[in-house]
Amino acid sequence: MDTATIRVTRYRPETGPEPFFQEYKVPYRNDMVVLDALNYIKANLDGSLTYRWSCRMGVCGSCGANVDGTPKLTCASFLHEFKGRTINVEPLPNFPVIKDLVVNMEDFMRKLVKIKPWIIREKETPPEQGEYQQSAEELERYQQFSSCINCMLCYSACPIYGLNEKFLGPAATALAYRYIEDSRDQGKNVRFPIVHEMEGVWECTLVGECSVVCPKGVDPMLAIQKTKILGATNALRSILMPRGGR
Ligand code: SF4
Ligand code: FES
Repeated sequence: MDTATIRVTRYRPETGPEPFFQEYKVPYRNDMVVLDALNYIKANLDGSLTYRWSCRMGVCGSCGANVDGTPKLTCASFLHEFKGRTINVEPLPNFPVIKDLVVNMEDFMRKLVKIKPWIIREKETPPEQGEYQQSAEELERYQQFSSCINCMLCYSACPIYGLNEKFLGPAATALAYRYIEDSRDQGKNVRFPIVHEMEGVWECTLVGECSVVCPKGVDPMLAIQKTKILGATNALRSILMPRGGR
């Protein structure tokens, strides 16, 4: 077995105001990931280490951390990829830290709820009339944006969110766009003012790191640009056809 050197950020507000690194040696096999190393430390070296995880299979989105300087899922970061190097594991940047690797997710959660991530209908049809049907082409328009696991890596990689936490940001916009493009949804008039407000999509400066770090192949930058285009087209239409073309 090889041995990995892991330097983990420790932050314990009850004992000191400053975070510090603590180093651990972890024996590992080729199939072990950074999350396995954290679990090894907690089980064998230091039971006080605090971090989030649940599924260990890239689905729950809870194990994000800054691994070797990049926001990653710790359950999808193999230790052998860092062979011969000390691996720094830090909390996700751009979020307040509660303890060790655990960050405060409240701002992100507020943004997810704000964009109303559910199908909005002007008038619900009774269930006995059957489901709202959708073609494969209609599904394809938004499918990739529905793969988000709310891991917040894109917010950690986003320099705009780092400067202005009011920015709606990548994942919330991708989710809004997912519903805007869903043929069953009729909530555009509700979501458009949210995504186009001062700190909505127009804050984005096309850095694109959100899409680079996303572990699920979602392209939030594309969603933001498409939302901008839809907003600009709507604004133009309302100028040229103030009465809706009538
Ligand atoms: S868009 Fe990607 S990186 Fe951002 S929260 Fe969703 S899955 Fe995570
Ligand atoms: S533990 Fe669930 S995504 Fe990593």
